[in-house]
Amino acid sequence: MTEQSPPSRTVSPADTKASLSEPETIGQVLRKSAASTQPLTSTPGWALRLTLTHLPNMLSDGNKTRTLGETPPEIREQVRKVVMGDAPWPLVMLGAVGAGKTCTALCMLDRVAKSRRYYTAQQFVDDARDADMGRLMRGDYLESIREFWKKWRNYGITCVDEIGSRSSREKVSDHHYEAVKRSIDERHGKPCIWISNLTLQQIAQVYDDRIASRLSEGTHITFTGADRRLKKGTA
Ligand SMILES: Nc1ncnc2c1ncn2[C@@H]1O[C@H](COP(=O)(O)OP(=O)(O)O)[C@@H](O)[C@H]1O
Ligand SMILES: [Mg+2]
Repeated sequence: MTEQSPPSRTVSPADTKASLSEPETIGQVLRKSAASTQPLTSTPGWALRLTLTHLPNMLSDGNKTRTLGETPPEIREQVRKVVMGDAPWPLVMLGAVGAGKTCTALCMLDRVAKSRRYYTAQQFVDDARDADMGRLMRGDYLESIREFWKKWRNYGITCVDEIGSRSSREKVSDHHYEAVKRSIDERHGKPCIWISNLTLQQIAQVYDDRIASRLSEGTHITFTGADRRLKKGTA
């Protein structure tokens, strides 16, 4: 899989050279991005109205913008607290399919002009395996496992979606487990979002208590409500 255009809803950072030797709040990241040339809106502070420039598969229709305007206020408030450093990372989004988790996370990533990465858990595990086996191609460049993890550590913000999505009962493979656990450890103290349709208890069943415990250190948002895709269909 290439970094530029993975299938649906994958954010591809234009530049991954940012080095974050110290933990950085997303507020700092956002302030940096505000000074960049990225076409963001002029709303001060945590702008909720975002220009869709990189993610044509989400809410895409010509020049439409991705917005959190329809997101419940209590969720926006929790997101704002994490972004501003008033609540701890990692941000963990849980809840049923179609409740708006991915959309909310991508709205956050939209606000970081550079150095961001969206993966599904499966994509991440596949890339980690390919890097480990010396066959992870980035364009015409072969990325080593060392570079893979270094980049992962240095992104301004990351999101891993669909954690444990295959099954809420069966254990994942050893490789999958190790890759996800390390992905969490390498982002410790840094802006990162983890998304799952499972509860933390189910995550503990599919992975184990160590992974559930790491995720439970952060801020949880549980999305409730009907599947928005179905609502759209019936509108
Ligand atoms: N804040 C929002 N405003 C408008 N549409 C939204 C919003 N959040 C989600 N949606 C729409 O609802 C559908 C499901 O959202 P998604 O984020 O993919 O859900 P989940 O990740 O929880 O399964 C998508 O089609 C998305 O475009
Ligand atoms: Mg989703």
